[in-house]
Parts: sequence; structure tokens; C-alpha cells
Amino acid sequence: MIKLQIPATSANLGAGFDALGLALQLYNDVEMEECDTVAITSADDTPVPADESNLIYTSAKDLYQVCGKTLKGLRLVQTNRIPMTRGLGSSSACVVAGLVGANMLLGDPLDTDDLVDLAAQIEGHPDNTAPALLGGIVTAVFDGRRVHWVKQEVYTKLRFAAMIPDFELKTERARACLPTEVSHKDAVYNLSRAALFSASLLTGKFENLRTAVHDKLHQPYRMALIPRAREVFDIAYAHGAYAVYISGAGPTIMAIADEDNAYFAGKLRFSLDNAGLKGWQVLEMKIDNTGCTLL
Ligand code: HSE
Repeated sequence: MIKLQIPATSANLGAGFDALGLALQLYNDVEMEECDTVAITSADDTPVPADESNLIYTSAKDLYQVCGKTLKGLRLVQTNRIPMTRGLGSSSACVVAGLVGANMLLGDPLDTDDLVDLAAQIEGHPDNTAPALLGGIVTAVFDGRRVHWVKQEVYTKLRFAAMIPDFELKTERARACLPTEVSHKDAVYNLSRAALFSASLLTGKFENLRTAVHDKLHQPYRMALIPRAREVFDIAYAHGAYAVYISGAGPTIMAIADEDNAYFAGKLRFSLDNAGLKGWQVLEMKIDNTGCTLL
């Protein structure tokens, strides 16, 4: 039995739409072994598809197909700690688990680049899948066939406080609200900030992060799909966040705070409650630098 641990991810990081993402220390576990049937169970109370539509299973099957093999069946046991459909990379964790597990079952025929490419092709965007596989902060360009990527480990103890509402937002809906064209000015606005984000995170110039997470490509449109999002941003900034942005396609709102901001999560919780936003969970995490790991 193979047992994998796959991290949650936060994509876009404000301006780096479809290009930047990082891994966080919140993990799903997947146990996997080949068998003659499809036997999928949840080790916790999270309902998971137990048939051949299961994303871990279909991703494993895709890898077998690439390698010219037939997957007869799998036994899967899933432990899901990453909230689903909330912009924290739960689908990417499934894709990565399926690919990495299947690759191990076949004796590692594919290398890391192959896995990064396949994961992006299955999921559609590399900014969640690549950090789920690799850890750290990943800069990725998907040219439609291959992913050109750089993973950088991040040695900060910054706090990433995810404020997770009790409603879901499907990525398809969060993409359908985006414009098909943007102005040259807006493109420059975003690309300069996306570059500023990773450079500032990696060099410790955290005072730049607030400017770096502003964008014109997706957040202004997605805010309308997340009731009271503006208030949640304001609460996080009021408690000293360096930066606040919509995580992935949302609806989770991520706030980055200094390691010395000791009671950041508690203050967010208290203020959200006071504002009548009790349905929003607060989960504080650090950056994961290892990505998908064999336990
Ligand atoms: N970059 C993607 C988006 C992340 O914002 O739609 C979700 O896969």
C-alpha cells in the first residue's frame, strides 16, 4: 500500500493569475494499491466519489494510459483535510495523488517534468497543480502542451490565514465572470505586480506584498461572487496583514501576516464573529516546501 501526503495550495497570489501558486501545510492523505476492482473509501466523514468518476482514480488511469498500461482497478482510502471547492487546491491534490501514486505503482516511468505537465493538462492550470506536486512557491507557464516552471523554497515563517466561507464557488463559475480581453495598461499593472510578489516574498521585502496582490484580471470580478468579501479584506488589513487576496478562484480569502503577529488568527476570528460572519472558518498555515510526499 502506497501512502501519499499532498499539500493544499493557494494560487494566483493576487496578480499572478494562472501563473503563481504556493503550497501550504495542510494535507490530504491518500492510500493506494492496485487491485481488480474500484474500491474507494473515505477515512473521515468527507463524502468522496466511490466509483470510476473519482478524480484520483481517473488521474491514475490517465497516467497508465500515457505509459501504455491498463489500470484494472484501485483501492483508495482518502483522508480529506483540504476543504473542497474553496480555492485551496483540493482538486489539484486529487490529480497529483492519482498521478504520483500511479507512477510509483508502475516503477516511476515518468519524471517530475512529465508529472507537472500531465497534472496541468488534466486540471487546466498549473498554478495549483505544480505547487501541490513540488511544494514552495512555483512560477509556471503552461504553453498548452508543456509547463515551464521554477520552484523556489520559501524560508519565512509568515502566517497564511485562510478565511474560508461556508459556501462553495466552482472554478468554472469564477472563470465565466472574467472578461475575454483586457487593456494593455491592465496587463502591465498585473505583470509588474506578479513579478513583485515572488521577488518580495523571497527576499523578505514583505512591505511590498500589499501592492503586489492588487490586480485587474480576476479579483475585481470575483469579489461580486463572494458576499461581504470587502469586509473580510478590511478586517484582515485592520489586524496588520501584509497582504490579502482571493485564494485561487475563491471563495477563500487569504491574509498574509508576520510571524510576530502572534494572535492574528484569533483576532480575525473575533472580528469576523463580531461582524456576523460566523460562517467563515479561519485556518492558519505556513508554507510547505516539500510538496507531495510518500509517507
Ligand atoms: N488560476 C486559477 C483561477 C486557479 O484563478 O481560475 C484555479 O484553478
